[in-house]
Amino acid sequence: MIEFYHVDKRYVSDQLALTDVSFSIEKGEFVFLTGASGAGKTTLLKLIFKEEVPTRGQILIDSQNINLIQSKLLYQLRRNIGIVFQDFRLLQNRTVYENISIPLAVRGEKKSTIEKMVMNALSLVGLTHRKNYIPMHISGGEQQRVAIARAIVASPKIILADEPTGNLDTELSIEIFKIFERINANGITVLIATHNTYMMEMFPKRILKLDKGKLISDGKKERAA
Ligand SMILES: Nc1ncnc2c1ncn2[C@@H]1O[C@H](COP(=O)(O)OP(=O)(O)OP(=O)(O)O)[C@@H](O)[C@H]1O
Ligand SMILES: [Mg+2]
Repeated sequence: MIEFYHVDKRYVSDQLALTDVSFSIEKGEFVFLTGASGAGKTTLLKLIFKEEVPTRGQILIDSQNINLIQSKLLYQLRRNIGIVFQDFRLLQNRTVYENISIPLAVRGEKKSTIEKMVMNALSLVGLTHRKNYIPMHISGGEQQRVAIARAIVASPKIILADEPTGNLDTELSIEIFKIFERINANGITVLIATHNTYMMEMFPKRILKLDKGKLISDGKKERAA
């Protein structure tokens, strides 16, 4: 579902943010991406939805070489990918319901379809009772659950999350990771960038580890060896 072949990424500076990164994540896998600050985690996630392009190497998403996608067709790639950020990125002047419905409205879905899909997503994250609140009036953990509902509402094949629990305490983080497990149980491929070693111990999954832009360990290869 996500394949990297000898990927380098260089920003304006000389230093490579990613160096010769190769790995492959199958459909339905749940994988953690870890490494110190500056190791390249966010860069790697951005390459997957083509917010950045690689300097060298090939990236296949759902068997499609995304280097070859024209920019006017990027929406086709991105509609298969749901993204969750550390800082939630909700619209503060819109209700929970409206925040989640936006990706569907943008696609031009019918109002009745939107309602069904939003209520499904809200129920999956356990927030049906908060649908008419504005984000400011719910807790941080709840806001992150809204962001997750927004990411999954359009039935993507892949969920990417960048430090999704960076702003949350342990108890709330566990809740969030349980939601990701539930999403993964529905067949969605999940890739989560995190520094949180405690969570990675609580939820033992395959771990890809970056160090200064190099992939220094891959739990899958180690298990297979
Ligand atoms: N837009 C950019 N322009 C130039 N350099 C960048 C840019 N984004 C990231 N970098 C550099 O690329 C390297 C990798 O950064 P990246 O943000 O991917 O790391 P990270 O693992 O996500 O770190 P953190 O844990 O702090 O979020 C760093 O050296 C960073 O300074
Ligand atoms: Mg980052």
